Amino acid sequence: MRDALTRSLLDWYDANAREMPWRVGPTDRKAGVRPDPYAVWLSEVMLQQTTVAAVRAYHQRFIAIWPTVGDLAAADDAAVMAEWAGLGYYARARNLLKCARAVVADHGGRFPDTYDALLTLPGIGPYTAAAISAIAFDRASVVVDGNVERVMARMYAVQTPLPAAKPELTALAAALTPDTRPGDYAQAVMDLGATICTPRSPACGICPWMSDCAARKQGIAAELPKKTPKAPKPVRRGVVYAGRRPDGAWLLETRPDKGLLGGMVGFPGSDWAEVPEDTAPPADARWQDAGEVRHIFTHFHLILLVRAATVEGPAQRGRFTPANAFNPRDLPTLMRKVLNAALAALPPLERTPDTDVEDT
Ligand code: ADE
Repeated sequence: MRDALTRSLLDWYDANAREMPWRVGPTDRKAGVRPDPYAVWLSEVMLQQTTVAAVRAYHQRFIAIWPTVGDLAAADDAAVMAEWAGLGYYARARNLLKCARAVVADHGGRFPDTYDALLTLPGIGPYTAAAISAIAFDRASVVVDGNVERVMARMYAVQTPLPAAKPELTALAAALTPDTRPGDYAQAVMDLGATICTPRSPACGICPWMSDCAARKQGIAAELPKKTPKAPKPVRRGVVYAGRRPDGAWLLETRPDKGLLGGMVGFPGSDWAEVPEDTAPPADARWQDAGEVRHIFTHFHLILLVRAATVEGPAQRGRFTPANAFNPRDLPTLMRKVLNAALAALPPLERTPDTDVEDT
């Protein structure tokens, strides 16, 4: 049974594997091409909580700037955080650097090739260790992400809701994991979940596992997996100060490594709390309301009141970043929203003489 399922899935994958910049497709793999473990690791860390579509361009930029794990280990922390900006879950980026440095310091610059050794590295948990050992090193590790959970819940019509069903779904995935082509198999199940066995309207009619799927037989595929409703997220509030000098320099600070958006550049402000406390502005100026921005974090909704001002004097907190050294792309998404609110509220910058263009 397992072998027949493996064969039908791998046949499907041979014809339908998604192209990804870090992926060695089934044809090349059969010809002996090996994936670059560094590229695979980077992709798997980026893909946690983030879609393939969003990850593609980031992955390509990282590999272009830091082609090897040694290059990344030697990178400037701020440069890596700036390249990660917009991907979210910034602890991943801080762990990325720690992991690259551990691979260089403790493993001679080569990723270890077993699940157990990978698991000892910073930022590599059970999912990532299994994915890298399967995809990069063709080991028969059990790779279970949300796609795989959905496929297993349907194949075996598991009625237990998530997250309680996780151990059961992992055991079912383990029983199906083959010794033949485990790297392709792991990616095939994930591709099946992402393209055919999709959450809302699965394309059962073209699924290679259609005739073995219990949920399909019962006509309940789209209803599975069941999920225990989540408690609504609490709301936290805060104030953020977007100050700009007349020469266009923004008043910014690097957030502490610990905590939300840790290590990222942002505008100074208050703590975020359900009952916020007053915070002094970072500089004397005529601060004006620039509206609210909203952002959803894993555990809460955030509503920030944006205050904006032209700052003529010195700052008590943060540092002015000159306009030519400021790239909005380096900001996390929340802080880009703050920037846009401030830009809408502040008067346009007066042109400085050396940027003025004479009418002729
Ligand atoms: N999602 C996360 N990693 C993946 C991979 N290697 N292939 C397909 N989907 C994925």
